[in-house]
Amino acid sequence: MAILPVVTYDDPVLRQPAEPVVPDHPGLEEFIDDLFDTMYEANGVGLAAPQVGVSLKLFVVDADAITEEEDEESFGPGVFINPEIEVLEGERWDAEEGCLSLPEIREKVTRPDTIRIRYQDRDFQTREEVHSGWYGRVLQHEYDHLRGVLFIDYLGAFRKRLIRKKLEEIRTGAVQAAYSLAPKSTEAGNQG
Ligand code: NI
Repeated sequence: MAILPVVTYDDPVLRQPAEPVVPDHPGLEEFIDDLFDTMYEANGVGLAAPQVGVSLKLFVVDADAITEEEDEESFGPGVFINPEIEVLEGERWDAEEGCLSLPEIREKVTRPDTIRIRYQDRDFQTREEVHSGWYGRVLQHEYDHLRGVLFIDYLGAFRKRLIRKKLEEIRTGAVQAAYSLAPKSTEAGNQG
């Protein structure tokens, strides 16, 4: 059990497609526990492996805290391995999102409401579920991390310009978070 440092948006690992997970991946059980510990420590509702610098197709969620507020069906801790998401019919809607890799940034994002997700659970049993509402949104946000997409990619040019300064502050390490962020290496600082 360990709290892992979270990498910020400027880390290249967040921009590359994650690698499929095999059942006998060394240390997988412990890594999943660490992801949960790290997510809870940071008060997050989801955390994807690339966010702790590990390029694996895997994320954890616990959306209970937000879904209860919305008076929706509540979902406990979930492990999603090798997920694939398909967008189903339904209206698109806006909501403010944040991301542990983008501390202090919250922006409105438009997403489809209903998705079908196919994945393996912690026991590598294949599952298929349909989700909508807040939980469906959390799953889409985390799934995006596994294909190198961040929520700021959905913003229009105007909003992107408004957050430019804050992004620069995150990149240079000037932004502090209430949880552990990965230290900025000189190498990462040179990436522009
Ligand atoms: Ni995120």
